[in-house]
Amino acid sequence: MAASLVKVEIAQDSAWDAAVDLLAIGLFENEPLTGVLKEVDARLGGVIQDALSRNECKGEWLASWDTATLGMMRPRRLLVVGLGEKGEFDLRRLRLAAGFSAQKARDVRATALAWSVPPLTADASDMADVMTDGIIVGTWRFAKYSRDSDGYALQEAQLFDLPPGGQPGLSRGQVLAHAENYVRELGMRPSNKLYPQLMAEEALKTGREHGFEVEVFDEKKLAAMGMEAILGVGSGSEHPPRLVAMRYHGGGNRTLALVGKGITFDSGGISLKIPAGMEEMKFDMLGAGAVIGAMRAIAELKIPLNVVGIVALAQNIPSGTSIKPGDVVKAFNGKTIEVINTDAEGRVVLADAVSYAADLRVDWIVEASTLTGAALTVLGHEATALVAADDGLASLVLQASEASCERVWRLPIYPEYKRLYRSNTADIKNSPGRDAGTITGGMIIAEFAGETPYAHLDIAGTAWTPTSPLNGTKNGPTGVMVRTFAKLAEILSH
Ligand code: BES
Ligand code: ZN
Ligand code: MN
Repeated sequence: MAASLVKVEIAQDSAWDAAVDLLAIGLFENEPLTGVLKEVDARLGGVIQDALSRNECKGEWLASWDTATLGMMRPRRLLVVGLGEKGEFDLRRLRLAAGFSAQKARDVRATALAWSVPPLTADASDMADVMTDGIIVGTWRFAKYSRDSDGYALQEAQLFDLPPGGQPGLSRGQVLAHAENYVRELGMRPSNKLYPQLMAEEALKTGREHGFEVEVFDEKKLAAMGMEAILGVGSGSEHPPRLVAMRYHGGGNRTLALVGKGITFDSGGISLKIPAGMEEMKFDMLGAGAVIGAMRAIAELKIPLNVVGIVALAQNIPSGTSIKPGDVVKAFNGKTIEVINTDAEGRVVLADAVSYAADLRVDWIVEASTLTGAALTVLGHEATALVAADDGLASLVLQASEASCERVWRLPIYPEYKRLYRSNTADIKNSPGRDAGTITGGMIIAEFAGETPYAHLDIAGTAWTPTSPLNGTKNGPTGVMVRTFAKLAEILSH
């Protein structure tokens, strides 16, 4: 994965003297040429102004225009990136623009990129963070299961015109981006190359490399602990389930638990899904991926908070030993679940994982899962759905997500929804039907958090997106929630 080893640095002096292949400069919509762009235009004999007046070059969001510089300045090429309305420009867009420039750098096979960082009323370190993150995430490509490789890798990026104080953001952005790319790597791996045992081994390896403890519970241990829920979901597969507990000791006397859904493949089980698009259900472990990635980032950033990460890993496939509609399983906390639909498996495995977290007497539980197609219906690929009864925790999650350039939208919890998942046979049923599907999904899992403040994040629409300026592989995993989780740990550590 050489592509993500790009070195990002803060540079002084003039961007137009940068020894790079490609210089990127932003242009706001309906704004005249000013600052660096004006200087560069003068060096290039007015070619930008000319393109602007012909409407070839424009400031519309992610419009782009580029030219060879023909020896008139040091960078071999110039890229003008549309930044949209000045009033709408923020850290989120800065990160996306940085990612977009990485795609463009690939197009012209630039190995060194420079940015004249656009002006923004924001902390310089935050700006350096999102620029670094956007470039490294934008550069990532999955190393295909193929002998072909295009051999391209961006080597370095230089950030010019950043206000002073950006240095800390460079290393933060780098740590987070590498963690995000790691999660994306896991997301791309198909289920024959990433099943529960292998994903547990990934957690062990990541813990060894980045400094957190990892404990793996195999199927025998899960049975001994009374975790019928995760065992039930995994019972159809030759690859038995695993629950992984990761512990990072950052200090202090409070602990955040991050919990993730890790279905390495979701065929639906006996309640089989339709074939169209089923291959994408290898992505159903990205909640767990985000937790492992966040643990890695949190440990590397040495955030002064205790964090435990718990991931529930299982494969949901039909066989003679599979869990069946009507079966009842008892979760770790003693609550029973009637499995109406084996395709609503995420909440079932999370029943064990979340009740295990609550049993650890942690102070907060924040869980991420690709839980419902309904989350996609409501918010599309633009935002993660938040379901949380605890207003305090909900607002901290929203604050963390906002600061992390990851959109999260809170849905309501009304007591009336409870009747949708009442069961005649067990404490609850797993499949309440279509109505308010994302909300009932979160409310069902909340039943297993007990009194611990709990927040559920449905990343079904955001963990994998068809297009994004950050994703050169187009349809692919995003690494979403790594940044938000790390930020939340930072906020909670104060
Ligand atoms: N992993 C899926 C959710 C999903 C579906 C994510 C489509 C992205 C696209 C989950 O396990 C699932 O199958 N959920 C069901 C729940 C229903 C049976 C209550 C769903 O969303 O249809
Ligand atoms: Zn699923
Ligand atoms: Mn499912």
